[in-house]
Amino acid sequence: MTSGNEFIIEVETRISIHTVTIQFLCGVAIRELPWQFIVDFVEEEKQNEILNKTIFHPLCKKYSVGVLYQRSFCKKFIKEIEDRNQVVSESLCQHYVSLLSMENTPYSYKIYYIPGICKFVPILESRNLLSNGTTGLNTWQGAKVLAEWCLCNPGLIKNKKILELGCGAGFSGIMTLKTCQPLSYTFTDYHSEVMSLLCHNVKMNFDAKFCDSFTEKNPSEIDNLKLFDIDNISVKSLDWTDSDDTDALIKENGPFDIVFAADVVFDPAILNHLVKTVRSVLRHSTALNDHNKKVTDYPFACFSITVRNPSTFELFLHELDKYGLDCIEMPLNVFKVFYFDGSSDVKLLKIVLRL
Ligand SMILES: C[S@@+](CC[C@H](N)C(=O)[O-])C[C@H]1O[C@@H](n2cnc3c(N)ncnc32)[C@H](O)[C@@H]1O
Repeated sequence: MTSGNEFIIEVETRISIHTVTIQFLCGVAIRELPWQFIVDFVEEEKQNEILNKTIFHPLCKKYSVGVLYQRSFCKKFIKEIEDRNQVVSESLCQHYVSLLSMENTPYSYKIYYIPGICKFVPILESRNLLSNGTTGLNTWQGAKVLAEWCLCNPGLIKNKKILELGCGAGFSGIMTLKTCQPLSYTFTDYHSEVMSLLCHNVKMNFDAKFCDSFTEKNPSEIDNLKLFDIDNISVKSLDWTDSDDTDALIKENGPFDIVFAADVVFDPAILNHLVKTVRSVLRHSTALNDHNKKVTDYPFACFSITVRNPSTFELFLHELDKYGLDCIEMPLNVFKVFYFDGSSDVKLLKIVLRL
């Protein structure tokens, strides 16, 4: 029989191992992992427990987590063990050696955990923040902030038709669809490689046939798919600099209730196109002319913006004003659901048509 204290320690240990798993699977920087806890697991027989919850985790085996990332994890774990004069387990040594001869692929999975529904969500991303002339092959912190806002405001999203602009790898939309029951979600971007990656991620998470047959271990290529349409979820190409694109999309899909965008305010040269796209979508909403609708049904845009250059942000506010859009800053969630480096200033704006 265990004492009360032993029971509490056991529970704390389980929670800590769970935290290590969650952070490892979504690729939290190796130096940021909770090593202060892992060092309790340096005895040989305990090392395997950590390995089974990280690099040998079934999800890590199914969706290949980056080779370089796994290598850095093993290296740091081995160092922690050796610094404490313990013996490194055979399986850890063997895995580390096998990783040394493996090539790193341009893409690898990050597997994100949604606590409220206890689900893991795989998202394929590029190794580099900027590759092939686009920033859209990774999940940016703006996407995580926007997804956190959705998770905390499901009532505003349920049964709404949502359009996302410049959605990159698809993080915000995938999380919103998993948790908030929108009526429909239309993912858009314009870069061809981003579109392929986006389609892959959406299929991976919502196309049952694709998920069931998924056996990929080391994806060196992503599907050469550009569009996707299943039930209430679609992936479409939309370039803000081409107003015909927006008109065609609205014609095809009907009006939208909410426009989402994360980390798309960075290029001063196209901010006016971005703002005009938002205005055009909001203007088509039927709620504006329907007197039976409540103010809460009025269309709005929600932009999550990492402010890297204050003058670009100021210009964006200026463009909103110029095109008849008002905005208010919304508070960020106090409780963090997803891990990100919170050192940069992130703003969450609600944008509406000036009536
Ligand atoms: C920094 S990434 C953000 C991606 C994603 N929203 C996120 O936060 O993870 C900017 C995205 O804007 C898209 N983008 C840039 N210019 C665009 C344009 N003219 N029309 C549509 N999308 C554009 C890029 O392809 C890229 O996916």
